[in-house]
Amino acid sequence: MATKTIPRVKGDFLLGNLRQYKANPFQALCNWQRDYGDLVSFRLATRQLYLFSHPQLVEQALVKQSHNFVKMYNPEKPKGLSLILGQGLLTSQSDLWRRQRRLMQPVFQRANLTSMLPQMVTAGNNLLHRWQQLGNGAQVNLADEMMQLALEVITQTMFSTSVLDKIGEIASALDTGLKYAAKTISNPLTPPLFIPTPANRAFKQATGVLDDIIYSMINQRRSQSSNRRDLLSMLLNVRDDAGNPMSDQQIRDEVITIFTAGHETTANVLTWTLYLLARHPEVLAKLKTELHDQLQGNIPDAKALQQLVYTRAVLSEAMRIRPPAGILIRKISQDTEIDGYAFKADSLAIFSIYNIHHHPDFWQQPEQFDPERFLTAEKRKFAYIPFGTGERVCIGNHFALLESQLLLSMIVQHYDVELLNTDEVEIEMAVTVRPKGGIPVRLKRR
Ligand code: HEM
Repeated sequence: MATKTIPRVKGDFLLGNLRQYKANPFQALCNWQRDYGDLVSFRLATRQLYLFSHPQLVEQALVKQSHNFVKMYNPEKPKGLSLILGQGLLTSQSDLWRRQRRLMQPVFQRANLTSMLPQMVTAGNNLLHRWQQLGNGAQVNLADEMMQLALEVITQTMFSTSVLDKIGEIASALDTGLKYAAKTISNPLTPPLFIPTPANRAFKQATGVLDDIIYSMINQRRSQSSNRRDLLSMLLNVRDDAGNPMSDQQIRDEVITIFTAGHETTANVLTWTLYLLARHPEVLAKLKTELHDQLQGNIPDAKALQQLVYTRAVLSEAMRIRPPAGILIRKISQDTEIDGYAFKADSLAIFSIYNIHHHPDFWQQPEQFDPERFLTAEKRKFAYIPFGTGERVCIGNHFALLESQLLLSMIVQHYDVELLNTDEVEIEMAVTVRPKGGIPVRLKRR
């Protein structure tokens, strides 16, 4: 029986906590944990939400009660990411999700991933070459550079193509799309898409741009008689038990999901890692020593990557202190109870990865960037969840680790990144945790 009361965030009579949340969702979630605790209830106009900031609550909800904490896909009234991704792997649920996950899993298995290393290396070399042409001391926006790099990696490995000539359009369309998607969750009063408000028109235009790019990738492949062994071929060639191919809509949804989920997050990891290294010269020095000792200027292969223990710890710590996906969202499908707390059906649960990764009960000096903490064999299970947890854990986790370890080692061996602004960069959370306004840097060739 539910006996405990969930603290409620103070707010307006009419709009609840909408104003605070809209002003800065990232800061609101941090403040509410600090002021009210690890489980908090709040209201955004008509919508009831709960904020979870404790590892045990995460385990209870996302592992033990995953049937009650479900993705919020509703084909009649799509909200959040499903407005862009449709029913791709990230947003779909039930049997459709299970079938697609089983189908796509082999592409992401470790054994298959090493075959993608050459494309990742090419993308890394192209970046270094471009930087070299810019000249020593060139100034760039690190966030944009890493976005471009990760986009090239995902399109080359999964779809054997490049969309770099459209990078400007893609970045701006994704920015508009992701911000709009986040707004439909944070503000239930957002006018429905069929009303031609300026924001709705801008969103439709942005998804139109992305759709054109995705469909031209699919159509181009269909018109070639290629026997490539990438994700796109698998999606196009697969047949169900009755011999039917996957529908065009489903292929589009899976392609745009991998395209989006597969580059935005990894770009953030690399950006934050290089930023943190620039602010912590002692960590950078140790990293350079490992890279020098293990690689002597060479590009690591799969075996060499396994030996880069400190490099991995640096990335793990960067993903702790700046988790690329800041929150997970679920709909509560029926009235339920956890640890004596009652949760109402149809309300939303927000799991703050950021709050959990900074929880002082689980992390000593949580604000300190200290990769050493990942060199011990300490078990952290639900206190460290950059890739989520339970059955919906990230399918691209091994891919992302391989990619970021490789590219970080290539960049750090050739360049020092000097921050042009010494103030701490502000965090902006739409769906992912990004540096607000990017990170202007000067590139110094080593
Ligand atoms: C460091 C980089 C990455 C981070 C931090 C990250 C984080 C996450 C998180 C937290 C989830 C769980 C979402 C939820 O439970 O609602 C997730 C799911 C997912 N990620 Fe990633 N991701 C990364 C890279 C990638 C890459 C490289 C790909 C594809 C190549 C990818 C594809 C996906 C997909 C398809 C899902 C949905 C899985 C499912 O529900 O079955 N991610 N990711």
